[in-house]
Amino acid sequence: MIYLDNAATSFPKPPGVAQAVYDHITQLGVSSSRGSYRAAIEVSRIAFDCREKLAEIFNISDSSRLAFTINATAGINTILKGYLKKNSRVITTSMEHNAVMRPLNYLIKERGISVIKAGASPKEGYLDFEDFQKKIPGADLAVINHASNVSGAIQDIMKIGKICRREKIPLMLDAAQTAGIYPIDVEKMNISFMAFSGHKGLMGPTGCGGFYVDPDIKIDPLIHGGTGSNSE
Ligand SMILES: Cc1ncc(COP(=O)(O)O)c(C=O)c1O
Repeated sequence: MIYLDNAATSFPKPPGVAQAVYDHITQLGVSSSRGSYRAAIEVSRIAFDCREKLAEIFNISDSSRLAFTINATAGINTILKGYLKKNSRVITTSMEHNAVMRPLNYLIKERGISVIKAGASPKEGYLDFEDFQKKIPGADLAVINHASNVSGAIQDIMKIGKICRREKIPLMLDAAQTAGIYPIDVEKMNISFMAFSGHKGLMGPTGCGGFYVDPDIKIDPLIHGGTGSNSE
């Protein structure tokens, strides 16, 4: 098969990924962080190690601020719906994926948030910094697509992060297309929130992704549940 849909999910995965999934299902295969027997502790340790490795790749100082999800879309929804309040103001771009635009459109209707879009160059899709700079004051959150799956344009997040730092506006990065492929430094780029796919550039199996939230920011959970008395 000649595969041309790598922006949707990477294929084939490295043989070690298939082996790790097989080993997990046949040798451990129990829930993480929900038991104190040997296999449960081992699975929890593997999940912890994975979080630590991701924290290293993205230069995140506290790996406990990373959570796993089923994909980037779930991470984006958790961040936007957990952070934006009634009448919040968002600055974003004309280059966003539906995984960002649909939750934002939902929040316009349900919470009365306002969304303004900074433009991009018509051919390549690079952010118009002047327009971004002009429209950012007063925003509660900036939401930026790191790389477009349509045009392939990779935005200058270092520059965007500097503008957000100066304006004291938290930056959310949609790193679906770049995590595992393109360098991301959460500290240097001043990223407060980030959602990423695990099943694209990070080469994980389908159905995995995650998100990051800055230690000083609290968001409301999208999904409630879990086990134990203090596991939210
Ligand atoms: C820029 C961008 N954001 C978000 C997504 C959604 O990613 P996922 O499939 O992991 O939910 C994609 C997928 O194509 C994407 O290209």
